[in-house]
Amino acid sequence: MTQEVWNAVDSYITNMLVGSDAALDAALQASADAGLPPIAVAPNQGKLLHLLALASRARSILEIGTLGGYSAIWLARALPSDGRLITLEADPKHAEVAQANIDRAGLADVVDIRLGVALDTLSKLAAEAAGPFDLVFIDADKPSTPEYVSWVLRLSRPGSLIVIDNVVRDGTVADPASDDASVQGMRRAIELLASDLRVTATALQTVGTKGYDGLAIAYVTSGG
Ligand code: SAH
Ligand code: DHB
Ligand code: MG
Repeated sequence: MTQEVWNAVDSYITNMLVGSDAALDAALQASADAGLPPIAVAPNQGKLLHLLALASRARSILEIGTLGGYSAIWLARALPSDGRLITLEADPKHAEVAQANIDRAGLADVVDIRLGVALDTLSKLAAEAAGPFDLVFIDADKPSTPEYVSWVLRLSRPGSLIVIDNVVRDGTVADPASDDASVQGMRRAIELLASDLRVTATALQTVGTKGYDGLAIAYVTSGG
């Protein structure tokens, strides 16, 4: 199978089941125009996040890694009107583009972008007792993913769902000898999910417009 086939199938799935949408299209366009890297989740992945938030009846969502707010818009649209999404972003330019995209999507009252290094913001969120979050999407700097998992467990409750993007990385995740810090980050994150008695988890390999990658999903079964 080739990237060409994966793209054609993603396009077919997106045309059939996801559709196009002015606010989401504008968010991607504005992100590209501002020079942000083209690494937002694909439309069908965004829709998956949306469905997971709907299925878990999420009222509070935490996202780590905002970029231009594309995945945040998908997630926030699954929230009830009194729901809230907090999304963490270290790059002020990304946060600014995301804020404009979220405003344009009519989600300014629902989405709270927190500018800063995520590990700092997470400790502040814990100090503020901002949790527990019903759903968490981890999609920032990959080497820090195990630390994000540890923080997120403190900000969760039994029944919370944790989704981690980019866990497969062209298959390199299965190589214990990899010298790539992102790969080692994902391996440690998966080890944490495997060994922590508070969660049960799986991970899926994915192909499509984002190449060969995957996502992990963990369900929190009991509190700390
Ligand atoms: N979730 C987004 C994509 C996020 S890309 C989407 O699918 O639409 C990863 C983002 O994480 C980038 O914007 C990057 O600036 C941000 N990031 C990287 N390191 C970070 C850190 N330490 N703290 C907070 N954000 C960080
Ligand atoms: C990269 C980051 C992502 O979150 C992603 O989905 C794809 C690529 C990256 O940093 O290259
Ligand atoms: Mg990602």
